[in-house]
Formats: sequence, C-alpha cells, structure tokens
Amino acid sequence: MNIVTCIAPVNIAVIKYWGKRNEDLILPLNDSISATLSMDQMRATTTVMASPDFAEDKIWLNGKQEAFSTNIRLINCVREIKKRAKSNGGDGENKILDWHIHICSENNFPTAAGLASSAAGYACLVYALAQLYGVKGDISNLARQGSGSACRSVYGGFVQWHRGIEGDTEETRGSVAEQLVNEFHWPELRIVILVVNDVKKKTSSSIGMKRSMDTSELLKYRVQICVPRRVEAMKKAIAEKDFETFGEITIKDSNQFHAVCLDTYPPVVYMNEVSNSIIELVHSYNSFHGKMKVAYTFDAGPNACLFLMEENLNEMISLINYAFPFSHGDSYFRGLPLISGPAPQHICSSINIKPHSRDLLKYIIHTKLGPGPRQLGEQDDHLLNSAGEPV
Ligand code: DP6
Repeated sequence: MNIVTCIAPVNIAVIKYWGKRNEDLILPLNDSISATLSMDQMRATTTVMASPDFAEDKIWLNGKQEAFSTNIRLINCVREIKKRAKSNGGDGENKILDWHIHICSENNFPTAAGLASSAAGYACLVYALAQLYGVKGDISNLARQGSGSACRSVYGGFVQWHRGIEGDTEETRGSVAEQLVNEFHWPELRIVILVVNDVKKKTSSSIGMKRSMDTSELLKYRVQICVPRRVEAMKKAIAEKDFETFGEITIKDSNQFHAVCLDTYPPVVYMNEVSNSIIELVHSYNSFHGKMKVAYTFDAGPNACLFLMEENLNEMISLINYAFPFSHGDSYFRGLPLISGPAPQHICSSINIKPHSRDLLKYIIHTKLGPGPRQLGEQDDHLLNSAGEPV
C-alpha cells in the first residue's frame, strides 16, 4: 500500500517547553509535561502517498500548496524517518523509500487561532510516514525534529517530554516523549479553551524562545531550579489525581513562562487584556470557593486553556458567559455539550464580576483528554486522489 491517512491530536503543556539547547535537532532546555486533547474536537488529518510516477516531493497545507525544498524541518523529518525505516527493518528494502511523496494535511480548527497547530501537524505527518514505511517503535524523537512540542502529540493522556542527556548521537541523547497516564486515567477532568478575539500577529515560538535564550536571566533560573521540582510534583499530582496541586503548578508554570517572555529583551508579549481578565476571573472564583476549582494556562498567544472538574463546568461557563457576553450564538460553543444557565448572582456580587464589553471571546471549545494518533481505514478518508492531487 502506498497511501496512508492518519489523524493526530493537539496537546497543551502544563509544564512549558521554552528554549532549545540544540536548534537543529530541537533538543529542549528542560523537560515538559502536557495533556493530549481529544481528536473528536480538534485534530490534524494527513495523507501521505508515495509513487514512482511523482516527479518531486509536494505538500499541501490547509488547501494551499507550500514549498517543500526550502522547508528544513519538513525535510529533516522525512529524511530521519526514511533512515529509521532502513535501519529498523521496516520496509527497508522496499523501493518505496526511493519514490517521491505527496503530503496533504489539514486541521479541523483555525490555524490562526494559535492552537498548537504545528504540534498536531508534525505528529500526524511523522505518524503517517511511519505507517507508510512500516516503521515500528517510538517515533516521538522524529516528530520532535518537526516541532518540539509535536513529540508530545504522539501519545495520548498526559505525556512527559524528557530533555534527554548530552551525547553525540541521536540515540544517546534520549530526548523522547513518554506517556505518564492514558486518557482514561482522569475521566472527570475537562478542558475548556477560550479563543480570544485578537488580530495582532504574534512572534513565533521559535523566534521568541531563541530571544529568551539569548537574553533572559530568569529563564536560567527556571530551567535549573523551578522546572525539575515542578516536573516531579506534577507527575505525582497527575498520578494521584490531586487537582489542587495540579492546578497550582499549571498556573504557576504558565505565569513563569510569560514572565520569562517579559524578561526577554526586547520583551515578547503573548497575553493581552482579555487574557488578564480571564486570569482575574479564575483566581476570584477559586478564592470564592476557598480551593482550586479551575486552573489556566496560556501558550504563545492570548487564548486561555482551562482545566477543571466536570462538576464545576456549568457554574464556570455561566460565569464566563456573564463576564464575557457574546452576540452570535451560532458555533460559539464547540465540542462537547455545554449547559449554561444564568450566572449565580451570589458569586458575581461576592467576587465583583462585571460584564466586559461584548465579543471579546471568539468562541469556546469544550474537550477532554484523548488518545494518540491513529490511522484511518476508509478509501474516502484520503485527502489525495489516485493521481496524488488534493481531493
Ligand atoms: C509555548 O513546539 O511550537 O507552546 O520547537 O520551535 O517548533 P518549536 O516550538 P514549539 O513551541 C511550543 C512552545 C509552547 C510551550 C509548549 O508547548 O510546551
């Protein structure tokens, strides 16, 4: 078979990856931990096809053909997976490895939303190529070479990306992802993404982290002192389903990552006023209840990712809707069902929540933990036709 279609998930880090010690191999400064989100709501889909009839390698991303020969990360991924196919006895002797490939990939969520689209995309590409070439075993170190955070999207549940040790070869570096628990471990845990209306073009993660590496003193302290402690505490909190500790570390690590961005010179600013209002709402809500009910984390953009228990979902959504009114009901709530009643007035008055101006949020996605990538089986699933052109 010379055509394969796969889907892969988005992941959201609760201990952030920020900074590379090797830019070419994408070796990180520190370990990171993330939650893999369900593919029912958000996913990348990728078809890869190899044929002796193709004159060159080609790629289409979200319906648009992109340059292949100048995309170093893409070329690295393809080269490394072919190398693996030859060495681990996949279809190593197969001439398919000499054929050109066509790749067609799309996300079912707007790339512009800044929602870890490259992580899902590279995980999907590498997973699909692994199926095409019959590569077995862990492929996280191959996905890592497309985009660092992509290595964590290779597994479901909660995932740790190990920084690995210094060494001369890829094998001795051991910078791979490992599943900590699967997606069934903590079924009450819910994830809500608040997509913020924002037109500002952001500094890419790669450029931002390079600048932090060059200029931030705080990043050194974070990497040496804070992250190692937090990784151990976070692993324990996840294993024990201890939401109090999980939430506190998630919040603190997000805030420290953004503090590093501000400590960068010139500073990199990813959050905006709306992000800060969300932070305020979450802390007020937690202090009203006198315990950790909701945790937030922000990546390289203004969108909030909230973690909470299912039992608190309706109350929290009611408060969000009260604080962030919206005018367009259609497709505002996405993903798993959300039931939101009127905001509980005793909470609103006690913690002094006031409605902001309308439409500061674009939409809300309700999701939960999910599994790693998988191959789709039907002919209709392919994004390329028999001639290798997008359908
Ligand atoms: C803030 O994985 O996008 O989302 O390795 O250069 O492709 P590259 O960076 P990328 O960085 C993600 C940074 C982050 C934190 C995280 O996901 O851990």
